Amino acid sequence: MALRSQFYFRGAIIRPMHNLVLQIVMRYLHIVSAIIAVGGVSFISLALLPGTKMLDEQLRQSTLALITRRFNIVVWWCVGGLVVSGVYNWMLLAQTYKDMGPIGNALIGTKVLLALLLFAVIWAQSVGIGKNKSPKFWLMMKLHLAAIVILLASILRYYRLEHLHDHVKAILPGS
Ligand code: HEM
Repeated sequence: MALRSQFYFRGAIIRPMHNLVLQIVMRYLHIVSAIIAVGGVSFISLALLPGTKMLDEQLRQSTLALITRRFNIVVWWCVGGLVVSGVYNWMLLAQTYKDMGPIGNALIGTKVLLALLLFAVIWAQSVGIGKNKSPKFWLMMKLHLAAIVILLASILRYYRLEHLHDHVKAILPGS
């Protein structure tokens, strides 16, 4: 069944996907989910791991295990928020990416692919794959992937707004 992004009601075009409140809520959900997940991973790898080095090793390991177990629940909620809002944003902007040509498709394609790889890494660690790897290895892997995804999102936004600007200039010369 084709997904209809618009329908007619009493002569008016209804575009549920384009609802302004929904757009803001979804953008907010995407940004907040990324901040909480990436912020937490940064805190654990850059402050908690080095900051607890002077503790007794057994106490340190059990403290880190307790904190990361609790934080993993938060991360899965954030992954849910990122997927729902990300798919919505993608559907909303799909036509713009198409109009942007190869750069739009390449940027969104690579961003989503790396985001899925990041989710796969989170899943792999949670089911115990690569148990012999250190916590630092997993944290650094997640942090670097997240950093690239955020960089691609920033570049994509820049090109998209630039494209929009060119489009407005073409139809409203002198603007
Ligand atoms: C299935 C996964 C995901 C999908 C489908 C997705 C999709 C999108 C789309 C379509 C945009 C709008 C880009 C634009 O302005 O043209 C976006 C923005 C963004 N994404 Fe994602 N994304 C996903 C996962 C992630 C992850 C894992 C992160 C962070 C690690 C992330 C961080 C961001 C950020 C920071 C923005 C910029 C938001 C803004 O400028 O308003 N995304 N994403």
